[in-house]
Amino acid sequence: KPLKFVTLLGSLREGSLNASLSRNLASLAPEHVEISALGSVGELPHYDADLQGQGFPEAVVAMGKAISAANALIIVTPEYNYPVPGVLKNALDWLSRLPDTPVARKPVAILTASPGAIGGARAQYHLRQILVFLDGRVLNKPEVMIGQATSRLDPENDSITDADTRSLISAQIAALAKMTVSLG
Ligand code: FNR
Repeated sequence: KPLKFVTLLGSLREGSLNASLSRNLASLAPEHVEISALGSVGELPHYDADLQGQGFPEAVVAMGKAISAANALIIVTPEYNYPVPGVLKNALDWLSRLPDTPVARKPVAILTASPGAIGGARAQYHLRQILVFLDGRVLNKPEVMIGQATSRLDPENDSITDADTRSLISAQIAALAKMTVSLG
């Protein structure tokens, strides 16, 4: 039986480096791993407890169900002013309120890409902090922080041009698969 992983993307931008990275993951996964994308975080309204009181928005429920049905979650995101973009935080805030807590005990891997030198490293640790409260099981190694991403990724052709980056990502997805199996 294949393992099903789903990706959550923190950028809304058409030519996004992280979106392109995310679209490349399936081709770098081991054979027994299937990777598909969750709905866009841009489809979720701003978190509002009053809105929640009227019933969770459909897009939130759908995202929660898709995460619950998956064996693991992969978050791919830019770094905005050191933490993650508000749109991703907003999605995680909604998900944290769903009664069946879809992220709890779920294996999670994080990838960040940035044109800057350190590849979104700071955002990764902010994200890990959020995932403590959501009770995700975040993979520690290998860390994938793609710096100088404009020279390693080619969003126009949807390719990862740097071979070392490709093998690092393959190793990370394989590690996530291994952790997923070992956590049962
Ligand atoms: C950025 N960018 C950025 N880069 C980085 O490495 N660290 C940071 O803290 C920030 N902060 C930041 C804030 C805001 C509001 C914007 C718009 C941008 C640059 C960012 O990495 C770059 O725009 C990426 O291309 C965004 O990712 P996508 O959309 O290409 O996936």
